[in-house]
Amino acid sequence: MTTRAVARGVGHYLPDRIVPNSEFEESIETSDEWIRARTGIERRHFAAEGQTTSEMAALAAEAALKMAGMEPDDIDAVIVATSTADLTFPSAATMVQERLGMTRGFAFDVQAVCAGFVFALANANALIASGQAERVLVIGAETFSRIMDWSDRTTCVLFGDGAGAVVLEAAEGDGTNADRGILATDLNSDGRHKDILYVDGGVSTQTTGYLRMQGKEVFRHAVEKLAQTAHASLAKAGLSGDEVDWIVPHQANLRIIKSTAQKMGVGMDRVVVTVQDHGNTSAASIPLALSVGVARGQIKQGDLLVTEAIGGGLAWGSVVLRW
Ligand code: UT7
Repeated sequence: MTTRAVARGVGHYLPDRIVPNSEFEESIETSDEWIRARTGIERRHFAAEGQTTSEMAALAAEAALKMAGMEPDDIDAVIVATSTADLTFPSAATMVQERLGMTRGFAFDVQAVCAGFVFALANANALIASGQAERVLVIGAETFSRIMDWSDRTTCVLFGDGAGAVVLEAAEGDGTNADRGILATDLNSDGRHKDILYVDGGVSTQTTGYLRMQGKEVFRHAVEKLAQTAHASLAKAGLSGDEVDWIVPHQANLRIIKSTAQKMGVGMDRVVVTVQDHGNTSAASIPLALSVGVARGQIKQGDLLVTEAIGGGLAWGSVVLRW
C-alpha cells in the first residue's frame, strides 16, 4: 500500500474587473493584435483597490472546500503559493487560516514565483506521504497588478490577478500509476538566471519594486525546460506523453503552451488553456486552469494530468497526478 495525495475539491476566484487588451492601447504603444498574436492573451482580471491576495485565496479555498465537502477545521495544513502576499509577514497562508475561521493545523507560504503552485503541490504531497498531514489545502493566489510598471509595454500587458485552490487528502493506493492522486513530482531551480526575471525591489531595499523581464530569454528557457521537466516526472511515474489525458500548464504564453505540448506528443485538444481569459496569474495560473478545466467538464475523475510551470529564479517543475 502507498499513501497518495488525492484531489477532493478544486475552486477559484477571479476579481470582477476584466480588462481587455484594447484598454492598454490608450496608455502605451501596443495593440490588441500584437498581444493576441505574441501571447494568446485577450483579457485579464485585476483586483479592486484594497482587495488583497489573502482575500482572493480564501474565496478560492472556500469553493474548493465546498466541492470537497469539508469544513476548514478538517484541514491539517494550508500552503499558499504567492509572490504577492498582503504583508511582508505574517504569511498569506495564516491570513487565509484566519479568514476561513480555521483554528487548528499549520499554514505557510511557498515562494517560487510562477512555479509556486507546482512547488506547493510537491510539498503538500511530501507532507501527506510522510504522515505529517492528512488533508492539505494548496492555494495559488496573486495580485501581480501591484508590481506592474504601467509604462513598460513588454511586461504590463502580460499579467493578471486571481486565485485557485485544491484540497488534497491522504488515501491508500496500491502503489501503481493507476492510483488516483499525485504520482510523481520534479522540481528544479537555477539561480544563475536570477537576472532575467525579477522584481527590482523588496523588503531589504525598502521598496516594493516592479517586475522586470527579459522576455525572449525567459521564453527560450521555458520551451526547453518545461518539456524536460514534464518528461522527467512522467518517466518517474513510468508513464509517457501518449497516456496523458490533460496537460494543465502554467498559462504565460500560448506559444510556449503549444511548443511544450508538441514536444510531449500531446495534441492541443488535450491541453487546458485559459491564458486568453486570465493572462499570466503566476502561481495562481495552474489551480485556476484546474478549476476551470473541471468546471468545463474537460477534467474528469481518473484522468491523468501533467502540470508544469517555470518562473523567476529560474524555478521550474512538474507534477503528474491522476485526478
Ligand atoms: O510566467 C513566467 C514566465 N514568463 C514567460 O514565460 C514569458 C516568456 N516570454 C514571452 O512570453 C515573450 O517573450 C513575450 C510575450 C514577453 C514577448 O514576445 P516576443 O515574441 O519574445 O517579443 P520580443 O520581446 O522579441 O519583442 C518583439 C518586438 C520588439 O520590438 P522590436 O525591438 O522588434 O522593434 C518589442 O519592443 O515587439 C515589441 N513589443 C511590443 N509591441 C507592442 C514588446 N512588447 C510589446 C507590446 N506591444 N506590448
